[in-house]
Amino acid sequence: MANKILVTGGAGYIGSHTAVELINSGYEITIVDDLSNSKESAIAGIEKITGQKVEFVKLDLRDYDALKELFANNKFDAIIHFAASKAVGESMQIPLHYYRNNIQCLLNLLELMDEYNVPNMAFSSSCTVYGQPDQLPVTEQTPFKPAESTYGNTKKINEDILRDAARSNEKYQLIALRYFNPVGAHETAEIGELPLGVPNNLIPFVTQTAAGIREQLSIFGDDYGTPDGTAVRDYIHVVDLAKAHVIAVDRLLGKKNKANYEFFNLGTGKGSSVLEVVNTFERVNDLKLNYKIVDRRAGDVEQTYADTTLANEELGWKAELGLDEMMKSAWAWQQKLN
Ligand code: NAD
Ligand code: WQD
Repeated sequence: MANKILVTGGAGYIGSHTAVELINSGYEITIVDDLSNSKESAIAGIEKITGQKVEFVKLDLRDYDALKELFANNKFDAIIHFAASKAVGESMQIPLHYYRNNIQCLLNLLELMDEYNVPNMAFSSSCTVYGQPDQLPVTEQTPFKPAESTYGNTKKINEDILRDAARSNEKYQLIALRYFNPVGAHETAEIGELPLGVPNNLIPFVTQTAAGIREQLSIFGDDYGTPDGTAVRDYIHVVDLAKAHVIAVDRLLGKKNKANYEFFNLGTGKGSSVLEVVNTFERVNDLKLNYKIVDRRAGDVEQTYADTTLANEELGWKAELGLDEMMKSAWAWQQKLN
């Protein structure tokens, strides 16, 4: 019988792409999501791509009793925990919501994993835990900096919780995956990022500007100490990222993990500047983007990109898709949304 994976936040951007890769790898999945930042159409998209019916439960993970019932009625082999609130700016306006949502969901899951003997979890962490690192590229041993946002702080606290849980109870088998900047969409354009309201992140703003939904892209600063003066990030195709989750689950179920708490950077290892992103978007999609340079955005780091050696060697995973594919697929998805 196929192993059954609980995918929390599976109607969301990264979760939906991971759901596709899990199904294509022979896993059975149950998605739970409260649709607070997603739409049920993502489930239909997953079903269309895979040709399989997906079990979807609309549920708020903060609701302990409802979650307990789900565990009581299912035998999960592993959990991939994506569900969280993720908007950096919003997290500074409603910090208590961010602490409550991002921490309580994880605590509820860990408690029920213990009670129902589900030891395995892969968790969505973020490069935000490193802040502006003193040395580049960023390895897993690079010290964390004080968080720039409440959102970032919740990810640090989540990692503390995972580490302490693993230390206190050897039953837990946990992997934190620290994503750099996930972008792009599935090649079928059936699923992709669905930003609600005005996007904060670069790529949705770029695609919405190209689509005429936004008048102009503001590039936040061109006076950084980078080759062209704009900030540098490690953009990673969401499908590459999704595949890493399948490998993490394989690793846990195959008992190939070397410690009961492990953590890995997931990026391409290559930094790209905002201008490089914009130029690539224009070139691969053969269009011109209306943009202007404005002041730096508060809280932004100058540059960050991953050392991916550990994920390459330990997980046998490597990002395969480049900026061209990221920008092409992001635009194809945006056009589908229009
Ligand atoms: P997303 O908002 O598209 O997906 C998260 C999903 O979780 C949404 O569908 C939302 O409805 C759901 N959710 C939120 N709170 C919930 C709750 N209490 N109960 C049930 N469902 C709930 O975000 P994403 O970009 O797919 O991110 C997935 C994970 O990866 C998050 O934990 C995020 O913090 C992390 N992450 C994202 C990025 C990024 O840039 N997208 C980078 C690093 C880490
Ligand atoms: C990328 C670059 C901006 C918008 C955020 C979170 C981080 C992680 C990934 C979850 C920066 C520039 C952006 C715009 C611009 N998420 N930019 N004009 O800030 O690297 O990371 O998402 O864990 O925690 O902080 O991503 O896409 O917002 O910005 O010039 O309209 O694009 O200044 O250099 P960021 P981003």
